[in-house]
Amino acid sequence: MSAAGGTGTTRLDVHFTNSDARADLRADVARGLTAVPKELPPKWFYDARGSELFERITDLPEYYPFRTERALLADSVADIARSSGADTVVELGSGSSTKTRLLLDAFLAAGTLRRYVPQDVSESALQGAIEELHREYPDLTLHGVVGDFTTDLARLPGADPGGRRMIAFLGGTIGNLLPGPRHAFLTHVREILAPGEQLLLGTGLVTDPAVMVPAYDDADGITADFNRNVLRVLNRELGADFDVAAFDHVAHWDPANSWIEMRLRAARDLRVRVAELDLEVAFDAGEELVTEVSAKFRPEAIDEFATAAGFTTTRRWTDPDERFALSLLTAG
Ligand code: SAH
Ligand code: TRP
Repeated sequence: MSAAGGTGTTRLDVHFTNSDARADLRADVARGLTAVPKELPPKWFYDARGSELFERITDLPEYYPFRTERALLADSVADIARSSGADTVVELGSGSSTKTRLLLDAFLAAGTLRRYVPQDVSESALQGAIEELHREYPDLTLHGVVGDFTTDLARLPGADPGGRRMIAFLGGTIGNLLPGPRHAFLTHVREILAPGEQLLLGTGLVTDPAVMVPAYDDADGITADFNRNVLRVLNRELGADFDVAAFDHVAHWDPANSWIEMRLRAARDLRVRVAELDLEVAFDAGEELVTEVSAKFRPEAIDEFATAAGFTTTRRWTDPDERFALSLLTAG
């Protein structure tokens, strides 16, 4: 498909199909709801409604990571584009690609960019992003990939002959991976890059809990609604009967692990049936289900995990309050 007058084409590959999603969801729920403490992996937040709720989070006054990273990108993209020379920008967990437009503009101004490859587990978010980007950048080749960045990296499109890629992983999403999976993920990213290719990584930094916690527990309760959305996904997809309103949203700063932990707390004793798994689970009043962590880092910790995965830190940008960092990592 190409827009009137434009030379760019669009394409959407589905590496993570509905049936893959269903099989993964069943396995994750069977394991997570019988674990102690109970837990669910975060990728299940992002159905169409979850992706819309996340977009609303990015507009909240409390959610500083979004606008802080956007300001860092605005300051750095011209340098990044000039030094990178990439013709392909790949983005993992791209969502609505809102901030990425800064990156695309700079790479287009530098004259090298030909192709943008956004990858996300949310087909609805990706579809919407591609339609809008195609109107805004009619000459850019858009190749969306519905996929899971923890398992499907090897199937991403490779570099064009003689071309170079840059991978962007923004939003602090790397903080949603636990240390073991984070290392496995970064090692895998390193493996799919050629030496000299780069990863642009956005990370939340450790700052005052009075700033960090409200970002994950806003006054209007949008984040609470987002957190509970995972229960709606289970009700719809697996015939579960969670009383969604009976779970309270909890955001807790864990200084020992350096992460914000998101939980859902049962307000009373509950029995939940997950029909498709033929599973009954009991929640005691006050029992908590862990739905996500969002790790915050010190700059030295970023260098450490980057080095351990085979990257070197080429440059880093941080805001004056040191709440967020954008690191340009080069594959060794
Ligand atoms: N990059 C955007 C969105 C961040 S929210 C920003 O900076 O604003 C996290 C995004 O990662 C969501 O779009 C979500 O759908 C996606 N995501 C979460 N887990 C994923 C996984 N395992 N594989 C691919 N995408 C995932
Ligand atoms: N990647 C985002 C972050 O860690 C995801 C996120 C923002 C999130 N707010 C949330 C996840 C609330 C769960 C609940 O900042």
